[in-house]
Amino acid sequence: MKILVTGAEGFIGSHLIEGLIKKGHKVKALVLYNSFNSLGWIDTFQESTKKKIEVILGDVRDKEFIDKSLKGVDVVINLAALISIPYSYKASRSYIETNVNGLLNILSASINRKIKQVIQISTSEVYGTPKRVPIKEDSIINAQSPYAASKVAADQLALSYYKSYGLPVSIIRPFNTYGPRQSTRAIIPTIITQALNSDKIEIGSLFPKRDLLFVEDTVEGIISAIGNKKSIGNIINIGSGYEISIKELVKKICKILKINKVLKTKKIRKRPNKSEVLRLLASTQKAKKILKWSPKNKGAKGLELGLIKTINWYKKKENLKYFKKSNFYY
Ligand SMILES: NC(=O)c1ccc[n+]([C@@H]2O[C@H](COP(=O)([O-])OP(=O)(O)OC[C@H]3O[C@@H](n4cnc5c(N)ncnc54)[C@H](O)[C@@H]3O)[C@@H](O)[C@H]2O)c1
Repeated sequence: MKILVTGAEGFIGSHLIEGLIKKGHKVKALVLYNSFNSLGWIDTFQESTKKKIEVILGDVRDKEFIDKSLKGVDVVINLAALISIPYSYKASRSYIETNVNGLLNILSASINRKIKQVIQISTSEVYGTPKRVPIKEDSIINAQSPYAASKVAADQLALSYYKSYGLPVSIIRPFNTYGPRQSTRAIIPTIITQALNSDKIEIGSLFPKRDLLFVEDTVEGIISAIGNKKSIGNIINIGSGYEISIKELVKKICKILKINKVLKTKKIRKRPNKSEVLRLLASTQKAKKILKWSPKNKGAKGLELGLIKTINWYKKKENLKYFKKSNFYY
């Protein structure tokens, strides 16, 4: 099976292509073209792994490029996206261009190239603050940021291609994913790196609750959708099924590190009130039933194990060199 992965050089994408190679798939990795010759996290792979990956440089916004890239491919997994919520307040149009128009290019080229399955990676942010938890896939959709709105549009576009043209599309909807290689702008790396390197921990809101999924589980969830006929035309949540507030999360990380730091909230790190999603907790019944998937890192204990692995990774100086200090909060 030849699988094209977009966003392959990013946080989840890089773990996914490693997972696909381990399972014996042929991987074509689409890396966003840049003038630094950077292949993102793929640059850090061992030579033996790199040799197994066909890397192409390009952009999902380029229709002709995407059509050519899909030649000889069986399955497309689309992770390419702009994902920062704060940046989506500043540059909404670029979110539509990448997250929606980019997907449109993939969908139309997939019809042309008779792709066997398109797996679109959605996000729990599409639910916004829910009326009830755990959140099932048929819950109300409520985009509270331009990022979330672009992902809602992408999901709907993908489903419309299934309904209108019979394109085999599966939508996998991960809840907040964490683990090694995640940007230090994301909540868990922000807490860990400040806890390790600063006398205080500054974050945005303390009370939102999140369902945190370790990246190895996210990858297994995505891989379990490949070739899964029952997933076609479906949206499937993947989450840990356990929720924790940001305040409790800080406490948990500090407890693992055996340190005590002053916790401060900083206005610049907060979302506007109406844009803040207060609670995200996945119902994973559908994933269990259709994908036969459930997370290995479950409940409070699972979160602790995932956090320990993540902390150990960020503790290594050779890993931290990939993250630049910045005064931008997006
Ligand atoms: N990290 C999470 O908690 C989380 C949760 C749910 C869903 N997701 C989804 O998972 C996917 C991957 O997210 P991530 O956390 O790995 O973020 P990431 O920023 O590390 O990965 C996104 C990738 O998309 C690439 N990209 C951006 N614009 C592109 C373009 N025009 N053409 C080609 N590639 C482009 C980037 O270079 C990057 O490698 C996204 O679709 C995101 O919406 C992430």
